[in-house]
Amino acid sequence: MALNEKIQVHKASGALGGFVHGASLEDVASSDAVYQRVRALLVDHEVLFFRDQPQGPQVFAAFAKSFGDVLGHPAYTTVDDAPDVQILESTAANPSKIEVWHSDMTFMQTPPSFTLLQGQIIPAFGGDTLWASATAAYDALSPQMQAFLQPLQAVNDFRHGFRESLAEPGGAERLAPAIAEHPPVEHPLIRTHPESGRKAIYVNALFTTHIAGLPAKESEALLAFLYRHVVTEEHTVRLSWQPGTVAIWDNRSTQHKPVNDFLPQHRLMHRVTLTGDQPA
Ligand SMILES: [Fe+2]
Repeated sequence: MALNEKIQVHKASGALGGFVHGASLEDVASSDAVYQRVRALLVDHEVLFFRDQPQGPQVFAAFAKSFGDVLGHPAYTTVDDAPDVQILESTAANPSKIEVWHSDMTFMQTPPSFTLLQGQIIPAFGGDTLWASATAAYDALSPQMQAFLQPLQAVNDFRHGFRESLAEPGGAERLAPAIAEHPPVEHPLIRTHPESGRKAIYVNALFTTHIAGLPAKESEALLAFLYRHVVTEEHTVRLSWQPGTVAIWDNRSTQHKPVNDFLPQHRLMHRVTLTGDQPA
């Protein structure tokens, strides 16, 4: 049996997410047939999980690069001998700051297509990650609301997502180059996935500041509704991490949220983010 024929996926929830069995990180990196099968599963399931993949950062990076080009992040450090792999670390002295639902780096003109995480140091309890399907959320809207939202544009801003870091001593100086490089950008509030053709709600509480052309009160009320609607429980999936668990998700069709209920325990993840296209 060919490698790609051994691959199985088990749905992780009704709306999105799948556990992949029968394919390792190396299989995907070395076989185009395996890669094509996994990519199709990824577009379909929007987030995929692989258990028991504790391979080092080079293998993790090679797996990631099968799916696209690596994108750096202005606010994170990287692994010494694997510059494509970022370090996401939370300790008692330096706890994780991101708490709200978001899609990654929507402050960019061309936000990332996929993000990957690999569990390294996992707390004894807590620290799950949630994902929500922005396509299932779109599908659940009335035709009237879909038609109203379709032509709108939303503004996304780096400064909004990093406002806590900016308020810290030295924060403004440290982030000044990133701010200069990332002025606010407009994206379609409803984007169409370039591979699946599905429509997705494309605003998030971390980086979206307002809907262009609407009075502030209407923008605030509509965004509050959309943020809540996207993350309705029926649109979500929840992952409990183990060391060696790998997740890869599609930022064009999902949002995610870390659950910071593990503090002050130590948590360390490796991350790779991949470049994307201009949302349309
Ligand atoms: Fe994120």
